[in-house]
Amino acid sequence: NKKDILKGKKVLITAGRTEEAIDPIRYMSNRSTGKMGYSLAKAAKLYGADVTLISGPTNLKKIDGIKTINIKTANEMYEETLKKYDNMDLVIMSAAVADYKVKEYSNEKIKKQDDDLTLKLTRNPDILFELGKMKKNQYLVGFAAESSNLIKNSLGKLKRKNLDMIIANNVSGFSSDENKAYIILDENKIIELETMQKNELAFKILDKIIEYKINL
Ligand code: C5P
Repeated sequence: NKKDILKGKKVLITAGRTEEAIDPIRYMSNRSTGKMGYSLAKAAKLYGADVTLISGPTNLKKIDGIKTINIKTANEMYEETLKKYDNMDLVIMSAAVADYKVKEYSNEKIKKQDDDLTLKLTRNPDILFELGKMKKNQYLVGFAAESSNLIKNSLGKLKRKNLDMIIANNVSGFSSDENKAYIILDENKIIELETMQKNELAFKILDKIIEYKINL
């Protein structure tokens, strides 16, 4: 019985997309639904963990018994994550964070022009990379959504971001209920999973984290 296997553990999960405003009525975002992160939050709660969820905009219902912090932008997600990070036992970053935002937000609605319009973009913080640098006892898990060289790119991210585990999936899982994923701990430990529903995948991921626990 795994009901209490994460009892007393503090778990932080990010979920969903971020929205980066361009002007008062427009924004840039992506197709992330938040399902993977919400499924992980529910699964961790069922295992008895004390769960905090930092969520971008989604159509999903708030989960009873889970502290949920709603944010819009990558910078807001970064701030909220940093506030919670020190006390955490397990941190899973499943949010699809925008890599870029507009360099200059327009307070006025941008008027259409006869010609092309150019928006200048600037980098957002890579939250997970920063958490990797500051890591102490937290077990740190990231996701990678790739359209090519899935394993190679994911291994690169695992190392560069100083992660304990990365969940590699093809971009096709992005706005779907199902996902085909690989759980990667290092180049010699790559676990290929069947295509499955995200709520089932959430339990598989937690089970592997528990199996390979380092500090949990
Ligand atoms: O580098 P890439 O964006 O592919 O890495 C994906 C992982 O990094 C995910 O776990 C995602 O939540 C996290 N990430 C982040 N901040 C960003 C971009 C990605 O935390 N600005």
